[in-house]
Amino acid sequence: MVVNLLHKGKIGLAPMEGVIDALTRDLLTRQAGFDWTVTEFVRVVDTRLPPRVFYKHCPELTERPVATPNGVPVHLQLLGSDPRALAENARQALALGAISLDLNFGCPAKLVNRHDGGASLLRQPDRVYQAVKAVAEALDGAIPVTAKIRLGFANRRLAVTCAQATEAGGAARLVVHGRTRDEGYRPPAHWEWIGKVRHHLSIPVVANGDIWTLEDYWKARTLSGCCDVMLGRSALADPWLAPRIRYWQQTGERLAETTWEMRASVLQEYAALQRQHLPDRVVVSLVKQWLAQMRQGNAEADQHFQRLKRLTDLDALLGSLTPSASSLAAYEPA
Ligand SMILES: Cc1cc2nc3c(=O)[nH]c(=O)nc-3n(C[C@H](O)[C@H](O)[C@H](O)COP(=O)(O)O)c2cc1C
Repeated sequence: MVVNLLHKGKIGLAPMEGVIDALTRDLLTRQAGFDWTVTEFVRVVDTRLPPRVFYKHCPELTERPVATPNGVPVHLQLLGSDPRALAENARQALALGAISLDLNFGCPAKLVNRHDGGASLLRQPDRVYQAVKAVAEALDGAIPVTAKIRLGFANRRLAVTCAQATEAGGAARLVVHGRTRDEGYRPPAHWEWIGKVRHHLSIPVVANGDIWTLEDYWKARTLSGCCDVMLGRSALADPWLAPRIRYWQQTGERLAETTWEMRASVLQEYAALQRQHLPDRVVVSLVKQWLAQMRQGNAEADQHFQRLKRLTDLDALLGSLTPSASSLAAYEPA
């Protein structure tokens, strides 16, 4: 039975630079669903970064345990290529109370890749190994080091070798985003390839990429053979996806579909939290950014996005999130 097979897996909230900050982590973990979260990457070049940089990316470091208000652990992510600098910053993060360090070998951004970071290291598995090893040695078993990779840079030829390099370097867990760097975010994510990688490793492998629905969750787990998954854009598109998976794991029943009113209430709450420390014009773009993520595969959210995208005043935007039936009817194409 499906429930028996799949009832155990953990769910991670993916790191998303410029999108998932501490407030978003808080909102997305208020209901049971996620088992861990990861910060946006801290960019490491060649120096030891001051504590304020770590606190900015991970304000949760000021609390014990290092977790969202609802108690979901927050792991800190580093992105860099210089083993010595990564090690120094790993020690700094440890001193500030980090509970787990994740290394980003998946970032496809041209600027990051040009400066020898993120997915560009996947062309040289030995450098992946050196980076993980340096951090593992710096942490000396005090906290785990984990890694996140794509299936390769231009092709999948080195997928297994890179994954093995993370394990050999001392990674305790590996997240695999089932696409190469050159595939960007183009569907599909190759879940069966994540399975090939997993087959060669003894550390836990987490499947990531394009898990948008309960059915995708089932397929991703079946094709990859992974127990655990990580959700990125879909967690924003449908903040009830992780709770829905969790509920299904526990009961075998489906939660009702997420309504526009539920999505709108998350956006309202998000704006109220962001507004406490950011100017209204910035909050307007953040709310629209999240609303744009909600359009993915959801015609109703797309309709609301089209209706709201030109509003520039925060109060007007928030006031219009849940329109009266008549104003929505007025928008509908003839
Ligand atoms: C806007 C954006 C920002 C991202 N930032 C990060 C990041 O900081 N660190 C990282 O490892 N991955 C980052 N990713 C990749 C995601 O964590 C994830 O691997 C990818 O989106 C595939 O998963 P999904 O299909 O569930 O979204 C980012 C993705 C997006 C779309």
